[in-house]
Amino acid sequence: MVTDMAKIAVLGYGVVGSGTVEVIYKNQQGLEKKAGQGIEVKYILDLRDFPDSPYADKFTKDFNVIVNDPEIDVVVEVLGGVKFAYPYVKASLEAGKSVVTSNKELVATYGAELLAIAKEKNINFFFEASVGGGIPIIRPLHQCLSANRIEEIAGILNGTTNFILTKMIRDNMGFDEALKIAQELGYAERDPSADVDGIDACRKICILASLSFGKHVYPDNIHTEGITKITPEDVAYCENFGGSIKLIGWAAKQENDKVAIMVCPAFIHEDSQLAGVNDVFNAILVRGDSTGDVVFYGKGAGKLPTASAVVADVVDVVKATGTSKSLRWEDSEQDFIEDTNNIVCENYIRVSGTDKSLIEYLFGEVTYLSRKGAPADELAFTTSAISEKECEEKIGELQKKATVLGRIRILNY
Ligand code: HSE
Repeated sequence: MVTDMAKIAVLGYGVVGSGTVEVIYKNQQGLEKKAGQGIEVKYILDLRDFPDSPYADKFTKDFNVIVNDPEIDVVVEVLGGVKFAYPYVKASLEAGKSVVTSNKELVATYGAELLAIAKEKNINFFFEASVGGGIPIIRPLHQCLSANRIEEIAGILNGTTNFILTKMIRDNMGFDEALKIAQELGYAERDPSADVDGIDACRKICILASLSFGKHVYPDNIHTEGITKITPEDVAYCENFGGSIKLIGWAAKQENDKVAIMVCPAFIHEDSQLAGVNDVFNAILVRGDSTGDVVFYGKGAGKLPTASAVVADVVDVVKATGTSKSLRWEDSEQDFIEDTNNIVCENYIRVSGTDKSLIEYLFGEVTYLSRKGAPADELAFTTSAISEKECEEKIGELQKKATVLGRIRILNY
């Protein structure tokens, strides 16, 4: 019989917060068996009023009530952003309360600091829901794959952009039209920049890289490109290449022990396990030295998938009461990250107003691609593997005599 009772506070009653409370009460008995004690939501923090909610008596607008209540063991932060989330999470940890969060911006920006406080206080800071929504990835990386040296990690980490690219590929749409549909369906925000500019994917790959390589990878200086410049012409050339365009967040340990990391749209060969991941789905490929490639696939966003990851963390936190089994990574210097100029990959380039001789003079041996209806003066080709610096220099030379219409990296995942 379950006797003890863990009391939790949920900060934020938006989509994930309300889903979290719903999942806790829907599955309460089963969760309590798994946790080994009762679980009760004592407070929900939100500035709005919810008089008709079945949980109306739990709402407070005052965080101090929560942080000063010794009965609260666990704080669930699902506010989003960092303005309030950071001070509230830090204060909760300093008050000896374990924290569960779905907030990727918080973890990507302050993860090392918050993990260190959790360790010092012998409590836990868990964030399974911050990457991949309902897809288990943080815990498998930290626990199940811990015998591996992780060599690379790459993922389709943003459902909104994957939906837009899928629409562009399947329905031959332009970016603007596909974005509009994503907004109508509620997948994209009215201001879609965090998704379409790659910022959300950048935060997620930073968390995965920090975990995989043991040092905090800060999002600030990571080369991040979104999907706004992808055109139907690029999509057509990619089809001729034999692949799909995907927004990929990737990180790879280099021989010099630095981490190469980037977020960019990429041509992915059709036999890659990432190529068939469509619509709002996410997938994360982990390349371990013992396992080879392991792929995690599922819904990367949404109320209940994300809430299920939050609640699983709550159960784990309750089970771990009295111990600190949080994963760890250290703080880091920027020189832990490889200079983007040194990153090497193949590229697709589309150009008009030149002939093949200039292209071959600059890039050496290339492979030309074709598409139906291409204007006579348009050429598209793929290069051999060259560094970013070399590629940018050659594109600069090409631009002196021609118009470069697009460049997309080719990644081998
Ligand atoms: N906007 C995000 C996405 C939500 O599309 O993946 C989940 O982080």
